[in-house]
Amino acid sequence: MKNIFLTAFVSSLLLASCTPKSSSVAEAPKSATSTAEQMAQGKTIFENSCKRCHGLPDPTAYTSVQWVGIMNSMAPKAKLTDEQHQWVYDYVVSVKK
Ligand code: HEC
Repeated sequence: MKNIFLTAFVSSLLLASCTPKSSSVAEAPKSATSTAEQMAQGKTIFENSCKRCHGLPDPTAYTSVQWVGIMNSMAPKAKLTDEQHQWVYDYVVSVKK
């Protein structure tokens, strides 16, 4: 009797430890992962680079069209690369929605 319970216990442990691992690997498409990473980078860059000269702007205070112009004048001030410019833009526009 004891052995049956032990076997059931051990195999349920094995199932529980294997199942989440294999499904999370299968469910992570590369493009979605890098977009989320870039968005997180944009947020970090925004929070670190955009409060040096003035207070941190409120992303929801401007429309996505206004942000195009703002980023075109602010990205050079903050010395962002083209990529960083894009990530910060994607981030501030995502906050609006
Ligand atoms: C080197 C200094 C400097 C840095 C760095 C800087 N800004 Fe600015 N920012 C300014 C100045 C000066 C103004 C006001 C004059 C102007 O509009 O050009 C301004 C104005 C703004 C405004 C108001 C624009 C408006 O039309 O009301 C926003 C929004 C803004 N900045 C966002 C940002 C963001 C986002 C970043 C980071 C990518 C950033 N700024 C980095 C100097 C800076």
